Amino acid sequence: MYLTREEERIYDGEYGWAKQVCMRILVKLGELFNASRLIPIEAAHVSGVSYKTLGDAPTDFLEALANSGEKTVVEATLNPQSLNSFHLAGRFPESLVKKQLKLCLIFEKMGFKTSYTCTPYYIKKPRKGVHMAWAESSAVVYANSVLEAWTNREGGPSALAAAIIGKTPDCGVHRAENRKPQIVVEVKAKLEKDVDYGALGIFLGKILEDKIPLITGLGKPTLENLKQLGAAMASTGMVNMFHLENAKAETKQKPPEKITVESRNIKETIEELTTTSKLKPDLVFIGCPHCSSKEIREIAEKIGNRKVRADLELWICTSYHVKEKTRYYAQKIEASGAKIITDTCAVVTWTDKLGIKTIMTNSAKTAHYAPTMNKAEVKLASLEECLKTALKE
Ligand code: F3S
Repeated sequence: MYLTREEERIYDGEYGWAKQVCMRILVKLGELFNASRLIPIEAAHVSGVSYKTLGDAPTDFLEALANSGEKTVVEATLNPQSLNSFHLAGRFPESLVKKQLKLCLIFEKMGFKTSYTCTPYYIKKPRKGVHMAWAESSAVVYANSVLEAWTNREGGPSALAAAIIGKTPDCGVHRAENRKPQIVVEVKAKLEKDVDYGALGIFLGKILEDKIPLITGLGKPTLENLKQLGAAMASTGMVNMFHLENAKAETKQKPPEKITVESRNIKETIEELTTTSKLKPDLVFIGCPHCSSKEIREIAEKIGNRKVRADLELWICTSYHVKEKTRYYAQKIEASGAKIITDTCAVVTWTDKLGIKTIMTNSAKTAHYAPTMNKAEVKLASLEECLKTALKE
């Protein structure tokens, strides 16, 4: 892999051990994926911020990196952590809260924005064609497929290294030839709800592995539908982008391989992801990936003047940024007794420690992870059904 003189100096440790480690992570990755050089990036998004998923082991390394004085050199954002200081922190043991806070401070010291969201594109939408190093798989698919920004699916360490060096290896979907569709997916099923798009994603992720699909037959999906599709697809597969049929050159030449998706595939996927027949969940969770402003407004309108039932919780997860932007609607939602939870989500916080054993959600991604990550039973249903369950008549 070709390195400039400056990059070589960093690699050899002339600028200190911290930069050297970051450069070595990037070069190792580049060599693994046959990159010929490093390219500059405009943004990095780091995962592994939640103490629940990260644990203790990497904290010492991160702390040493922060103490070395190195800082991010590009727009650098953070994935959700495990806590929301208003609704959740007081419900967990102090030891867990302290450990999470320590991690947050470490990232802040390195210059990361305290975004704590899996939808950084709602805070600052990346421009078309820019190169980035993002580590949240749902955001990666959304960036490549919907926003037309270019990012591989980074791991936490490589996104962190990229944030500090400001570069990433020129491989994978950073190269135009690797962004072409490799298989046609003809969707014959009629997708009506958010949950149907999520189920399609779970179904396709398992079949496609890392093949980029050209999806036909979707009609006019909303951006939120596509967010659900991509998040779910990245949960069960390694796909980091999809194409929709349109006028663009890449989608005109169709690859020869083709699969079709029928209504029964969607129905069966929703049934498979539903692991409980209990009528009353302990938690109804909306906002995986974190809600957009439009979703917050729609949820407020759907709730109207109704109140949340006393025997369950309703969480709406989003970023602090979106909550602030939609303050009027957020207040309306909270007047119902629902909790707008920023900075975290049901999957990356300790719901089991809150006595939550059953989760109802409209997110196929959450339904996929909750049985293992939350030790919870799951009911997957549309937003309307979730709200109907959570609210008094
Ligand atoms: Fe985001 Fe949590 Fe889902 S981090 S994508 S809301 S699992």
